[in-house]
Amino acid sequence: MYDGVSEQSRQRIREKIGLLREEQTFEAVREVIEFDRTPADIKTAMDGFVIGQEKGKKVVSTAIAFHYRRLSAALKEALVENEGDIDLALQNIRSPRANILIIGPTGCGKTYTSETASRLVGVSFVHEDMTRFSEVGYVGQNASDILVDLLFAAGGNPSVAQMGIVYLDEIDKIATETVAYKDVSGKGVQKGLLQLVDGAENTVHIGKERISLSTRHVLFIAGGAFDNLEILVRKRMTRQGIQGNWKDHLLTDDLVAFGMERQLMGRFPVKVVYDQLTTQDLKDIMTRSADSVLLAYINDLKSWGINLELTDNALTEVARRAEQEGTGARGLISVIHRVLLEDMYGLPGTYTGKFVVDHSYVKERLG
Ligand SMILES: Nc1ncnc2c1ncn2[C@@H]1O[C@H](COP(=O)(O)OP(=O)(O)OP(=O)(O)O)[C@@H](O)[C@H]1O
Ligand SMILES: [Mg+2]
Repeated sequence: MYDGVSEQSRQRIREKIGLLREEQTFEAVREVIEFDRTPADIKTAMDGFVIGQEKGKKVVSTAIAFHYRRLSAALKEALVENEGDIDLALQNIRSPRANILIIGPTGCGKTYTSETASRLVGVSFVHEDMTRFSEVGYVGQNASDILVDLLFAAGGNPSVAQMGIVYLDEIDKIATETVAYKDVSGKGVQKGLLQLVDGAENTVHIGKERISLSTRHVLFIAGGAFDNLEILVRKRMTRQGIQGNWKDHLLTDDLVAFGMERQLMGRFPVKVVYDQLTTQDLKDIMTRSADSVLLAYINDLKSWGINLELTDNALTEVARRAEQEGTGARGLISVIHRVLLEDMYGLPGTYTGKFVVDHSYVKERLG
C-alpha cells in the first residue's frame, strides 16, 4: 500500500506527526502555563460547589494556587531557554511543593474539595483508595498502579500526568495500629508511598511500552477521618497546658502517635482539619451546591413537566434525617431518594405543574 511513497515523504510524514504531538503536548499543558488564578479566585469558584469548610477551602485553594503559579512561572521561563521542550523544562524546575493532608469526618467534602479544585484548575486528577493497598500488601506494585492511573487520567500524556493531582483517600487506614490489633503491613505501605511522594524518576510499564514519569511536580493530597485523633491531641494539649481548639494545635507528633510514619507525614506540610457538617450546611448543600443531588432531581422532574419544590421545613427534616445516617452529605442522597421514590416510580402521571413537598410529606414518606 505504501510502496509508492518515497522514503523522503515518509520522513516528512514522521516529522509532521512528531510536530503535531508536540503541539498537542503544548495544548495540553497550556492550562498550567497560562495559570494565573489567585487563591481567592479559586476559593470563590469553589464556593459554588463546596458548602462550609471555610478554613479548608482557604487552605486548599491557597496551596493549589501557589503550586500551579510556581509551575507556570517556571515553565514559561524554561520554555524560552529550552526552545519549547516541555519535558526538559519540567526536568529543570526546582520549585518546592506543599502537599496537603485533610483530616475530617466521613462525607464532609475532603475528596470533593480536591476534585473540584483540580477541575477548576484544569489538571488531571486521580483518586486512590489506600484501603485497597493495605490489603494487597505488595508495595512496589501499588505505587506504580497510581502512576498508571495518573497517566490514563492525563490521556496518556506524561507531561500532563506529571503536573496532575493525586488524592490518597483513607490514608489513616494504613496507620500502624498498636492498640486494637497489630498491623505490620501499614508501615510497609507508608514506606512505599514515601518514594512515590518524593517524586523520584519512576518507570511505568504499559504493555511493552516503558514510560518514564516523575512525580516531582504532582500535587499530593491525602485525606482521612482519623477517628479519635481529637482525643490524642486534646490529651497532649492538657499535658502541655495548652488551651484552645484542638484543630488549630495539631502536630505531626499527634499523627505519629496515631500510627503514621513521621517521614510520610513530614511530606504533607499543609495540614487542615475539616468540620462536621451542620444541619444548615446540609440544607445549603441541597439548595446551593452546583452538584446538589436535590437540584439534579428537580432537573430530572422538569422533563416530566413537574416543578418540584421543597419547603424550608421539608429541607430541615431531610437534613436532620441525613445527619442521623452519620455519613455526612452522602446521607442526603439516600434520604432524598427515599422521599421521592414513590413519586418517581409513578411517572408519568396525569399531573403536571408545581409539586410541593412539605414537612409532613417528608415525615410520611420516611416513616
Ligand atoms: N461541604 C460539602 N459541600 C457540598 N457537597 C458536599 C460537601 N461534603 C460532601 N459533599 C457531597 O458528598 C459527597 C461525598 O463527599 P466526599 O467524597 O468529599 O467525602 P469525604 O470527606 O472524602 O469522606 P470519606 O472520608 O468517607 O472519603 C461529595 O461527592 C459531595 O457530593
Ligand atoms: Mg473521600
